[in-house]
Amino acid sequence: MSDQVQGDPWQRLLTAAREVARHAYAPYSHFHVGAAALVDDGRLVTGCNVENAAYGVTLCAECGLVSALHAGGGGRLTHFVCVNGTGDVVMPCGRCRQLLSEHGGADLQLLTTSGVRSMAQVLPDAFGPGDLDPA
Ligand code: THU
Repeated sequence: MSDQVQGDPWQRLLTAAREVARHAYAPYSHFHVGAAALVDDGRLVTGCNVENAAYGVTLCAECGLVSALHAGGGGRLTHFVCVNGTGDVVMPCGRCRQLLSEHGGADLQLLTTSGVRSMAQVLPDAFGPGDLDPA
């Protein structure tokens, strides 16, 4: 990947995501995911996937991350990355792009398999809170 991953914030986030991926509970897919993000107040939040014998109940890593965001006082996500069990960057699934969009907006920066992208690029024309209250 390009030099965009050198230095802060990405190296720090990659390290945190790789660490939390070790704690994933993925006995069914064996696909560990770790997610890490910076919050606009400087906090770092993480999450890992937690699967379930009722497969559809599985929580993606991003679900844990967003829960940690609010459990720690809320705020807006500014930078995000998720990795697999071997530490490689993976794309957040479509549902989780929607989840992250709610808490970071169009300007949220994501380290993706094609470099740094904004949420507006990975989830164009997103549905959001504003659509519930159209002018
Ligand atoms: N998974 C995530 O945790 N986040 C994503 O964005 C993609 C998929 C998890 C869910 C499941 O436990 C495993 O990866 C395989 O789909």
